[in-house]
Amino acid sequence: MPLPKNEYVSNVWKDGIFANKVVFCTGGAGTICSAQVRALVHLGADACIIGRNAEKTERMAADIATARPGARVLGLGDVDVRKPESLQSAADRCVKELGGIDFVIAGAAGNFLASMAQLSTNAFKSVMDIDVLGSYNTVKATMPYLLESAVKHRTDGKTPPANGTGGRIIFVSATIHYTGAPLQTHVSVAKAGVDALAHAVCIEQGPRGITSNVIAPGPIGSTEGMQRLSRAGSTATQGKGLPSGRWGTVKEIADATVFLFSDAGNYVNGEILVVDGGAWHMPSTGPGQEFQYPDFLLSDAAVTGVKGGKKAKL
Ligand code: COA
Repeated sequence: MPLPKNEYVSNVWKDGIFANKVVFCTGGAGTICSAQVRALVHLGADACIIGRNAEKTERMAADIATARPGARVLGLGDVDVRKPESLQSAADRCVKELGGIDFVIAGAAGNFLASMAQLSTNAFKSVMDIDVLGSYNTVKATMPYLLESAVKHRTDGKTPPANGTGGRIIFVSATIHYTGAPLQTHVSVAKAGVDALAHAVCIEQGPRGITSNVIAPGPIGSTEGMQRLSRAGSTATQGKGLPSGRWGTVKEIADATVFLFSDAGNYVNGEILVVDGGAWHMPSTGPGQEFQYPDFLLSDAAVTGVKGGKKAKL
């Protein structure tokens, strides 16, 4: 369904700034990543989104394409970031059909609330595999293409780039590992790894013209992430007590993405851009807090009332 522009990107960016550019996005059918891609497509880019669910990914690609007449958006389903070969074929196909890869968003992630008592080794590993290995696989599959783009779009920081920007990657992370959070051991460890990976890419690939940054969203409304992390009901009470007094919007993450990929973000490298309305400074008011600490942990109970709850073994 075509979305009104004000739901996914602000008016401050110039139309066409990403013309003739291609963005490759893992987890692109998700609520946050699809808004990031939609904003880039609106501003001129073509896109390739990948996901595990073929139908959902293809449907989202067609939907994102409505953001700009003439946009080309590929939706490649049945691609699991845990499988390097399937990711590689997706990246190769993106280049074959769309002509290159200028920007990458490593957005695929797994999340659910579980205490260590409820978290098996395999559950921990699943999130590590999706978030950390999946992000690394994404880097490996796309870096040769990003490097080609970086060579073409190198900037001295003074002359406006004639052909725009390129050779940039953003990892979508989180803020929970800054302070730690109950029920999020697996995700805290994984996201710390994702941040470290982003920094490593900056250090090793920066000399070749790559920029590698992290966007760390806080609580963002109407997302699958928040359905998995919070029981909070009405939008009127969501985010009360946070410094900005509300949950964020996907548009606010998309705007941060546009900034980092644009000519305005040239010299931002190896950085974490937190977009959370100040929430991480007050972790006691964040998502998941309705599971009373420490009583809930002492009960060893499974989390209920959120999306992605543990399934009983048949
Ligand atoms: N609590 C505890 N353990 C859980 C769980 C929960 N809520 N949900 C899944 N698990 C466990 C499973 O029981 C399994 O462990 P086991 O083999 O020891 O029983 C392990 O996690 C893997 O689950 P499975 O469903 O087989 O893995 P999957 O690869 O199909 O799914 C997940 C991966 C678990 C991360 C799933 O939540 C997912 O697909 N998430 C993607 C979407 C998402 O999280 N989006 C939000 C991003 S912010």
